[in-house]
Amino acid sequence: MHEIIEELDKRRQRARMGGGEKRIDSQHKKGKLTARERIELFLDDDSFEEWDMFVEHRCTDFGMAEQTTPGDGVVTGYGTVNGRLVFVFSQDFTVFGGSLSASHAEKICKIMDKAMDVGAPVIGLNDSGGARIQEGVDSLAGYAEVFQRNVMASGVIPQISLIMGPCAGGAVYSPAMTDFIFMVEDTSYMFVTGPDVVKTVTHEEVTHEELGGALTHTSKSGVADKAFENDVAALLYLRRFIDFLPSSNAEDAPYRPTPDTWDRVEMSLDSIIPDNPNKPYDMKELITKVVDEGDFFELQPNYAGNIVVGFGRIEGRTVGIVANQPMVLAGCLDINSAIKGARFVRFCDCFNIPVVTFVDVPGFMPGTAQEYGGIIKHGAKLLYAYAECTVPKVTVITRKAYGGAYDVMSSKHLRGDVNFAWPSAEIAVMGPKGAVEIIFRQDIGDEEKIAERTEEYRQRFANPFVAGHRGFIDDVIMPHNTRKRVAKSLRMLRGKQVENPWKKHGNNPL
Ligand code: HXC
Repeated sequence: MHEIIEELDKRRQRARMGGGEKRIDSQHKKGKLTARERIELFLDDDSFEEWDMFVEHRCTDFGMAEQTTPGDGVVTGYGTVNGRLVFVFSQDFTVFGGSLSASHAEKICKIMDKAMDVGAPVIGLNDSGGARIQEGVDSLAGYAEVFQRNVMASGVIPQISLIMGPCAGGAVYSPAMTDFIFMVEDTSYMFVTGPDVVKTVTHEEVTHEELGGALTHTSKSGVADKAFENDVAALLYLRRFIDFLPSSNAEDAPYRPTPDTWDRVEMSLDSIIPDNPNKPYDMKELITKVVDEGDFFELQPNYAGNIVVGFGRIEGRTVGIVANQPMVLAGCLDINSAIKGARFVRFCDCFNIPVVTFVDVPGFMPGTAQEYGGIIKHGAKLLYAYAECTVPKVTVITRKAYGGAYDVMSSKHLRGDVNFAWPSAEIAVMGPKGAVEIIFRQDIGDEEKIAERTEEYRQRFANPFVAGHRGFIDDVIMPHNTRKRVAKSLRMLRGKQVENPWKKHGNNPL
């Protein structure tokens, strides 16, 4: 028996060494942790239960029969994050560059299936050169099995991808179907085809970093939600992030008690809106003053900054925040911001997370770039997402709510549950000046008359009371009481149950 136990120990030791010391050193030299070190840091101490440590690939082509490594390039299993169950796979770049073989895929599928059975998130720590080239179609089949599961799990359990190395080909499609993608600065890349292929096909010369680095995907493409300085920071932030999310669509997000009182008055909000309606202010300041302890986890902070999205808590319960940002493009809605907002609202709706919306929007961005880019369809994504959404929706209009953008931003007409306005709100078809120049076109040139008409329009429409008269706004509130009023509304809405009509699925404007 002693010998058998020793043999098991040896086998385990061999599996733990992955692709060998040399490759582990090389991984460390690049500033990257190994697959196992990542899991250790990410999960609670001693909580990891590993599966399939002895699985090997079955490929015999290209001399592969002699090159097997137990575990086959991915460490899989489950553990806890702050006491809550999560399933995890961590690709091991030291074994064939973390590339995906049929066996590697089967390991990932096994934990995804179990995560679905028990209702717990799947976290992928991705570090992979894509399909294992030696395996040909077996590897493609393996990817497709993962993709299919990604789709089936979508909206049932949260799926999060952390990109921690060069991810190419199939290795980026699976993350693309997960709910959130995080990256590590300087050491992670995502591309469908790498710089060499790009050069051959399009004759463009581009570096790995330019093509698919963290900066590219968090600021240009919008593919990634956030990037972190290094592996350690990324894994620790990921732990913090998971705390905001429920384990599945059948559960609520965890409750976190807070010393921050629900009725905290924030007097500084009374003066956050500048006197000049064209002057911006920082919507993020408002958000941090409203949520528990100023703790706001912003997503996509460097992409489509004209809309702000992220998670916070009110009275210890997670809320999704969506807000126009007057500091960027005056808070206009455009293609990128509509897509960003829509995807976030849909996530919240899947996972029972109430949506709090702060509105200061002068309208949709005009221009050929937007029209040719399809703003009509893309803008409609946000409209569709809010209209479809059945979780509690609380809206606060702080200043402008003009035109179609008023409708879109969680208005009463899209089943907003509680719609507040600050006294500074202006709810109208368009701004006073624009409106007067259209309906009193004959007076253009007569500055005095135009000024008079503009003031008349402002008095009549640029305030929250016309909407208030019609019940489109439930109350005009004091800015300093915003936290209290939102908290009370969310409390009232805790038992909300609304269902959309039965359908196979809607056909949202993709
Ligand atoms: C098998 C691979 C591999 C792969 C890397 N390796 N990618 N083995 N299949 N896809 C191996 C290398 O041979 C090497 O082995 C080790 O991993 C490390 O790779 P390096 O190239 O030395 O590392 P680095 O310089 O850091 O470059 C990493 C990389 C590069 C950018 C990922 O390896 C690369 O471009 N790989 C190919 C990417 C790719 O084209 N994948 C297929 C995509 S098609 P040794 O023994 O030297 O350590 C695809 C189709 C799926 O995924 C589509 C589904 C829709």
